[in-house]
Amino acid sequence: MRIDIITVLPELLMSPFEASILKRAQDKGLVSVHLHNLRDYSNNRYKQVDDYQYGGGAGMVMMIEPIDKCISKLQAERAYDEVIYMTPDGTTLNQGIANELSVKENIIVLCGHYKGVDQRVRDQIVTREISIGDFVLSGGELAAAVLCDSVIRLLPGVLNNETSALTDSFQDNLLAPPIYTRPAEYKGWTVPEILTSGNTPKIEEWREEKALERTRERRPDLLEGKE
Ligand code: ADE
Repeated sequence: MRIDIITVLPELLMSPFEASILKRAQDKGLVSVHLHNLRDYSNNRYKQVDDYQYGGGAGMVMMIEPIDKCISKLQAERAYDEVIYMTPDGTTLNQGIANELSVKENIIVLCGHYKGVDQRVRDQIVTREISIGDFVLSGGELAAAVLCDSVIRLLPGVLNNETSALTDSFQDNLLAPPIYTRPAEYKGWTVPEILTSGNTPKIEEWREEKALERTRERRPDLLEGKE
């Protein structure tokens, strides 16, 4: 998979891709992430990529030309499955969307800034708009990092058995059950006996029950129409 991220702040996106699982995925050749500085596509000598809004009002708007130039250059090099715009008014990211994107070959992620992008970018160029939640960040970069992390960890070969995505919360629309490790007792606080019993079928049963219980308590919305 190839991910091209278009941003005015590439520095903000460097470290997430230079550490841990995301770095390992790139080193293994399972994904390549390319950062593009939108200012390199500016048509003026101040490297300006934003301008005042038509009709007046506070806040700058990202201009269509640098964005179109950058995306057109990429699209001339290869076909893209999606051009994703990170914006608080997009579809809220969930595990289903991450799963869907994880089978794509090439995607472009556009990070918004200031008030956002000229509407024509959204109407003509973008294929999908994604939000990471009902709150406003100062730019789309951190949201893009969140999106990429959620997608990249699902690529075959990225996670090993210890970090398997199959037992994650949300993978079957349930939250994950409680987990424990050694010691079996700490300050008198013990681990549920069943987990140290060695009875695998009973342990599985216990985990399913706890996952359901936790989901019912914390996220009943996930069970709607299921129980
Ligand atoms: N840009 C600013 N806030 C955002 C959010 N919540 N999700 C995606 N992109 C954003």
